Amino acid sequence: MSETHARLGERDLFEDLEARSYLAHCAVAPLSRPVRAAVERALGDYGRLGLGAVGPWVEERGRLRTRLARLIGAGRPEDVALTGGTTAGIVALAQCLPWRPGDAIVLLRGEFPTNVTPWLQAARQHGLDVRWLEAEDFRPGGPGLERLESTLREGAVRLVAVSAVQFQSGLAMPLAAMADLAHAHGALLFVDAIQAAGVTPIDVRTTGIDLLACGGHKWLGALEGAGFLYAAPQHVDTLMPNVAGWLSHEDPLGFLFGGPGLLRYDRPIRARIDFVEGGSSSSVGFAALSAAVELVEELGVEAIARHVAAFHERVAPALVALGFVDGRTPEPEGRSGILSFRPPPDLDLSAVRLGLAERGVVVTAPDGWLRIGPHWCTPLAEAELVTAAVHEVCALLRA
Ligand SMILES: Cc1ncc(COP(=O)(O)O)c(C=O)c1O
Repeated sequence: MSETHARLGERDLFEDLEARSYLAHCAVAPLSRPVRAAVERALGDYGRLGLGAVGPWVEERGRLRTRLARLIGAGRPEDVALTGGTTAGIVALAQCLPWRPGDAIVLLRGEFPTNVTPWLQAARQHGLDVRWLEAEDFRPGGPGLERLESTLREGAVRLVAVSAVQFQSGLAMPLAAMADLAHAHGALLFVDAIQAAGVTPIDVRTTGIDLLACGGHKWLGALEGAGFLYAAPQHVDTLMPNVAGWLSHEDPLGFLFGGPGLLRYDRPIRARIDFVEGGSSSSVGFAALSAAVELVEELGVEAIARHVAAFHERVAPALVALGFVDGRTPEPEGRSGILSFRPPPDLDLSAVRLGLAERGVVVTAPDGWLRIGPHWCTPLAEAELVTAAVHEVCALLRA
């Protein structure tokens, strides 16, 4: 479906992208030409056909599920449900897991709030015990895994919730080891994959991930408001359909198209994770996501990861020379698409970010970190203009 081929290090599918260097893929993706074309096709169909556009775009959702299942190493498309984003997926799980009073959940300090708030709401609602660990303790060689194990040994833990990649430092979490520990103590591993999917390889089955939620507007290159949820098949039956809606039933549309007498409220709720797709949702958003994932597949996540790491290598030394502290782990397994730095004490981070923006270099600066998120479309040669801009801004601020 792509209009043109994507090539690593080429930004020609982003012809009107204003930034001289766009390094905020870890925040919000700019839309590529094939993704925009898919959105325009969907809009055109709905404009011309109204109801007649629904069928073809529902079929496209089927292709999207297949692509997403491949992307994360899920066995089957039916293990994937489409959602409005990461939060929507987590809220659905928090509402539907069969909590018992006295159950405990493990959350991590430092996580993006998406992966905390819905769990805390479930904790309030169901009387769950919340046990906190520190995300940064999970650096290779750090005390995180040991602390997780002793927390699990206390008993009653039903779920460990973690982001595949920490949004601030870019730390890639040791998911396989966390899954092994969780399983050894009868708990599930939930993963927020939005900072990994599309730039860092994920394989839910070899890693042992039980549940995963993701949004499409960062490294997948799609629009806000469209994402997905994965549940390993053995867990689907255990979920309570507390977020079910009219489209969650078996044969939910028969009464609309099949003649009189088919309107019923007792059709079973689907015993598949897509029961969370309870009502009408954004065809345009999923059209964008489908084209975006197709493009990521075309390039290959492994190749994207290597390209992004090569860009990191080209800019990191210049920042370190200026006194920034590189947040990456020396070990490659702790690294991700995000290159983050702690600023030197004499530099105001907001001023650095603004100075870079004035020079056409778009970065983000959440919670005290300078965050650089290049992607497959970032030319390696852009590293030079980025480092030159950083030098200029720091020299001005220090003058
Ligand atoms: C780790 C992480 N999870 C989730 C989100 C966003 O969640 P949602 O897709 O619900 O907006 C972000 C960033 O916005 C994030 O960095």
